Amino acid sequence: MCGIVGYVGRAEAMGTILEALGRLEYRGYDSAGMAVLNGRAIQVCKRTGKLKVLAETLRAKPLAGTVGIGHTRWATHGEPSEANAHPHTDCRGELSVVHNGIIENYAPLKARLLEQGHRFRSHTDTEVIAHLIEEYAKHAPLPSAFRRALKDLQGSYALCVLFRREPGRLFGARKGSPLIVGVGKGEALFASDVTAFLDRTRTVVYLNDDEVVELAAKGPTITTLAGKAVTRKSSTVSWDVSAARKEGYDHFMLKEIHEQPQAIEQTLFNRLDVGRRRIAFDRRTQRFLDRISAQEKIVIIACGTAYHAGLVGEYMLEEFARLPVDVDFASEFRYRGPMLDRRTTVIAITQSGETADTLAGVRLAKRKGANVLAICNVMGSSIAREADAVLYTHAGPEIAVASTKAYTAQLTALLLVTLALAKAHGRVRPEAWKRLLAELGRLPDLVRQALATEPALEEIAAKYARARNFYYLGRRYNYPSALEGALKLKEICPLIHAEGYAAGEMKHGPISLIRQGWPVVFVAPRTPVSEKVISNIEEVRARRGTCLVVASEGDDDISRYADSLVRVPRTDELFSPVLVAVPLQLLAYHIARANECDIDQPPNLAKSVTVE
Ligand code: F6R
Repeated sequence: MCGIVGYVGRAEAMGTILEALGRLEYRGYDSAGMAVLNGRAIQVCKRTGKLKVLAETLRAKPLAGTVGIGHTRWATHGEPSEANAHPHTDCRGELSVVHNGIIENYAPLKARLLEQGHRFRSHTDTEVIAHLIEEYAKHAPLPSAFRRALKDLQGSYALCVLFRREPGRLFGARKGSPLIVGVGKGEALFASDVTAFLDRTRTVVYLNDDEVVELAAKGPTITTLAGKAVTRKSSTVSWDVSAARKEGYDHFMLKEIHEQPQAIEQTLFNRLDVGRRRIAFDRRTQRFLDRISAQEKIVIIACGTAYHAGLVGEYMLEEFARLPVDVDFASEFRYRGPMLDRRTTVIAITQSGETADTLAGVRLAKRKGANVLAICNVMGSSIAREADAVLYTHAGPEIAVASTKAYTAQLTALLLVTLALAKAHGRVRPEAWKRLLAELGRLPDLVRQALATEPALEEIAAKYARARNFYYLGRRYNYPSALEGALKLKEICPLIHAEGYAAGEMKHGPISLIRQGWPVVFVAPRTPVSEKVISNIEEVRARRGTCLVVASEGDDDISRYADSLVRVPRTDELFSPVLVAVPLQLLAYHIARANECDIDQPPNLAKSVTVE
């Protein structure tokens, strides 16, 4: 989604902002722009398309100055165009605004401002903010006018404002959309995502909703919307900038697929102790889990890939911890009047910690008295801060739009929670406990072995690259794996339609489409229902579909039915979704590559969906 950057300091703002926007490119965008104050006037430059188009224009006609704001836009209101790109200015060029989020009441505000004589140049909701501040500034100093304007806005925003008559300062505010402050040596930055400024500073100040910030080179001054001073300590980000570089890989997605063994190790680190047969968490999370009784109802909420992790979690928690679990798309959960109370634990799964629907679901759950655990990758993100406890996945920054290492890290976190609850509620015998912990400890190595399927998958991908429809089928724990495999492919290869199904559902409809050569990916590691999956393979073969099977090593029963076969190490069904994820990700990656798709930034997609 949109990216925001603001800079105030000693360096040239133009270059600094361009670099920072470059690091936000991964979020997906369709136009970009910046505004720099040169001491006398605010100069604005905007372009549609990739950031390099903006960079080329700026190279030919640089903007001088050491304070400025920049933006990458992912269109919501108004088509991608230069006029609609940010920053937006008021009528007289006194101020410039960049904005992430959606101003829901922009239409009545715009009508009022038009009546008051303001001239609009774009079709965006954002432009009303610039004119609103301008209107209030007729009767108040600019910073007060900014605060007054914020009170009129409904919806979500992260904002950064540059005022012509306030040199050396930027103004920012957030409500429901991320905005972070970075404090460096003699300089300070705003960004919607910490990766934007990791090369300049790792000292960050997280902001809360309804806070207003005045940002000078020496750092932020934070107040509430009502004007009350806020004291906030800074934090240090543990990620370093190399984690946000490709490091020799052709795509971030491929790098992140290969980082999965380390990501899983990081999720297990300090939590799993195989030798002492223990799973333990930080004090807050441990207390949270200790409070979950054997009668607790669990509700998992998430979106996209994280939702698929939640579906696997449902199988895990019900089978091993014997707790009843519902899994909901966060976007449905919040609108269906869910029945929650103090005996409900809501687990919100999210890589970014900023997904608007998941955040709204967390807030709803808390309002209804439920206890909220976040499984989250980004430290200090909104969901991590609002949940009652957080289990960080520590997978490192995920840059590719398609989620890979965050997914297997989420599954690993769910495994830890499941086994800890199973143990606490006396659901697991000592021999099984010992064996399961040992297998969990082996997971990073098993994933390393699964990565060795890559050459085979490259060949298979070349064979199927021209197909335009795929089914992905699986059962039980690997039904969500099938959904996730299909999502990966359609996400990064928009030429292809891929659909995931529960294998047993096939004959209730979808099988009617199977014909000669239609590829069906069977996610079929060895499990107690393998025989049933073999029957489903037979049904597809009977209709001349082509079967690509992801099987367990040594499972010869299933292999003979496969037109193409990849094998992952054999493990308990409980752990198998982590292993099968690897070949499914690699298959999607190599098919997309063979089709010359824009793998890291697929069209129309954004990394972190901060609008509802
Ligand atoms: C798919 C993908 C998305 C996200 C979804 C939730 O590869 O990346 O489906 O999983 O937008 O995002 P988070 O986990 O950040 O809440």
